[in-house]
Amino acid sequence: MTFAVQTRNLDVGYRNADDSVTVLSGVDLAVEAGEFLTILGPSGCGKSTLLRVVADLLEPLGGEISVLGDKPHTVRSRRDVGFVFQDATLLPWRTVAANIGLPTVVGGRHASKFDPNRITELLQLLGLDGLGDRFPHQLSGGQRQRVAIARALLNEPKLLLMDEPFGALDEITRDRLNDELLTIWRRTGTTILFVTHSIMEAVYLGQRVMMLAANPGRIVNVVDIRTAKSPDNSCKREDPAIISAMAELRQMLEQVS
Ligand SMILES: Nc1ncnc2c1ncn2[C@@H]1O[C@H](COP(=O)(O)OP(=O)(O)OP(=O)(O)O)[C@@H](O)[C@H]1O
Ligand SMILES: [Mg+2]
Repeated sequence: MTFAVQTRNLDVGYRNADDSVTVLSGVDLAVEAGEFLTILGPSGCGKSTLLRVVADLLEPLGGEISVLGDKPHTVRSRRDVGFVFQDATLLPWRTVAANIGLPTVVGGRHASKFDPNRITELLQLLGLDGLGDRFPHQLSGGQRQRVAIARALLNEPKLLLMDEPFGALDEITRDRLNDELLTIWRRTGTTILFVTHSIMEAVYLGQRVMMLAANPGRIVNVVDIRTAKSPDNSCKREDPAIISAMAELRQMLEQVS
């Protein structure tokens, strides 16, 4: 079986001029193709750093990693990975449609042309119908975040990396976007790695939740939520099985914080 992401004894961190700082060490992880994995852990433990290594924005310090069965660099040049950052980074002088049509995949080549039908399709998928000609400053924060997601979906990435994409939104908008994201995930079958600080969001979205710790940075646990949810990975937030999964994760997070 080919995993979407597989690591063996992976060390990630930062190289300086004369030394290096290890952030996470000995990371053994296997994410199945099509899986929705959410990632929790205290601030500074290395969640973003790990996503950077998967996206080939950072070289690992040691160990092995394969992404979609290849080296991260190969996958990056094939534009198979989409990245949504915490703050929607849209170009203010470009319309919504032109922002979506930008080269979206990390390290992608410059796309001078984009298919207008595909843009219309994405606008519809993200509930942005009719907003294609607006500029980013004419949108709400939640709409901007949806544009960033549409942009990441442009090339139908096999792997989608999302780093706290909904952190700055109100709870209602966030809940709505969570449902939209699940719909997109079901429709496209893409693998998603999703970083969040919200235990509720981690449980609501993920099939499995990975808990990281700091000092030393490592994987503490990967909690399987699938048994507490329907086969299509849907659930009710007030379901007792969901509440107990959240309590378990909260306790874990308290221990590592
Ligand atoms: N360019 C860099 N050079 C050196 N150290 C860095 C660099 N970027 C981040 N770090 C350090 O690496 C550690 C992990 O940072 P990272 O951004 O991955 O944390 P995080 O888990 O995403 O935190 P948060 O939840 O606050 O976003 C932190 O201690 C941070 O200070
Ligand atoms: Mg981060």
